[in-house]
Amino acid sequence: MLRPLLAFTAASGWLNDPCGQFYDATTSLWHLYYQYNPNGTTWDTPLYWGHATSSDLSTWDDHGVAIGPENNDDGIFTGSIVVDHNNTSGLFGAESDPNQRVVALYTYATPTSQAQHLAYSLDGGYTFTKYGANPILDVHEANFRDPKVFWHGPTSQWIMVLALAQQYKVEIYGSPNLITWTHHSSFSCGVTGFQYECPGLVEVPVENSNDKKWVLILAINPGLPLGGSSNLYFVGTFDGYTFVPEQGQGRPMDFGKDFYAFQTFSAPENMGVVGLAWASNWQYANQIPAGKERGAMTVPRNLTLGYRNANPETSVLTLLQLAVIGSSISQTVLLDVKNTTLSSTPITVESKSGAIVFDVMFQVDTNSTEGLIQVKYGSNKSIRTGFDFFAKQFFVDRRHSSFDNPFFTDKTSASVEPLSVLGDFLVYRMQGIIDGNLLEVYLNDGEATITNSFFLVEDHILSISCSTDIVLLEAQVKEVENASK
Ligand code: FRU
Repeated sequence: MLRPLLAFTAASGWLNDPCGQFYDATTSLWHLYYQYNPNGTTWDTPLYWGHATSSDLSTWDDHGVAIGPENNDDGIFTGSIVVDHNNTSGLFGAESDPNQRVVALYTYATPTSQAQHLAYSLDGGYTFTKYGANPILDVHEANFRDPKVFWHGPTSQWIMVLALAQQYKVEIYGSPNLITWTHHSSFSCGVTGFQYECPGLVEVPVENSNDKKWVLILAINPGLPLGGSSNLYFVGTFDGYTFVPEQGQGRPMDFGKDFYAFQTFSAPENMGVVGLAWASNWQYANQIPAGKERGAMTVPRNLTLGYRNANPETSVLTLLQLAVIGSSISQTVLLDVKNTTLSSTPITVESKSGAIVFDVMFQVDTNSTEGLIQVKYGSNKSIRTGFDFFAKQFFVDRRHSSFDNPFFTDKTSASVEPLSVLGDFLVYRMQGIIDGNLLEVYLNDGEATITNSFFLVEDHILSISCSTDIVLLEAQVKEVENASK
């Protein structure tokens, strides 16, 4: 098993959704919680929140169980954490540090019910006390879950979004104190699948402006065209009561098979909008090859918005996602070339750690109808990503690094308009992270991403090649050296 170095994995046991993420401005630590079964490597109850901290979002300390259920058949399902700076809940003493007034809101699930519970921490997020009068929100539904809570300044209230999962509704509630909640509105998006899960609502800055827009993030499982579980996003407005999407339709947040239950950190505005997803898919998450742990997060991403051409006629506000790699991580340059002709003879580098960051910018003749540029990792057992000149689209192909499962889709793809056009040439940029058994590809500065796990790569050889001669404007490959768990 190739365990990721940058992306978080639990020390042992089963992991799914990220939840409860927040940033503590006093200790400068990022806190990550996760759906956790410490007693085995498949999803099962009793289900807990595990907990990890990081100073830079790349090197994690795993602290194990943070919150657990009362009965063995129950689970502390996905939820979120807010920092109650002004002690609106009244749960904290005057002496407490406002940056550490940590309140967790999560779904308490029994085999027949799902209601929202609250727990608070008096030690900055390491241990929790369950609120005495739980549940704080119960509508007596069996599938009502995954509260994501945030403070809405303009209307001075807490907002909770959560899923009435099998009625295809994102429910929006408001509260003055995190304890009493009033229903504001419901959002449904015209896409169904089987059920809605893990919604999010976050204000995201628009690049090169002082504007911000609201982005509603929604996880659907199963039933989107990629197969199994995946995330959509909608850009729109939110007045503290109702979310109105501006573009009508949602768009895939990632074009790979392993990107689900994305959630942002509760963090001060100057830290950016940072979040991460679970890098798996419910279609096969319980079957993927495992060590003493099973399941990984993605590398954290910073989100902004920018206008990008969806096609030559229409420019739309698009989510731009870029990987966050912490300052403590040292990277060795394995390759750094500019304006080089690339041919079918591969440029080859070998990494020691199996964690590699690459950045390839290339130009393709507008009229080319034949050719393929690819970055390949591994020799016989391998995974590759690249661009096809005829389709003018990007792909990830994991057929040679597969495991035997009918849902482990071999090939995924994404299409973006060129980054720029230089005379007869189209310029594209393909950045990527190979991290243990995870490949994340970021196209044209994060306009589209493709995240896929892979298995069975036997060596750490990375090669870049093209079936015809083309100009590589830039190619850089770095090896990640020192991340630890
Ligand atoms: C999404 C999800 C959530 C739920 C959690 C349980 O992956 O199904 O809806 O809270 O996992 O672990």
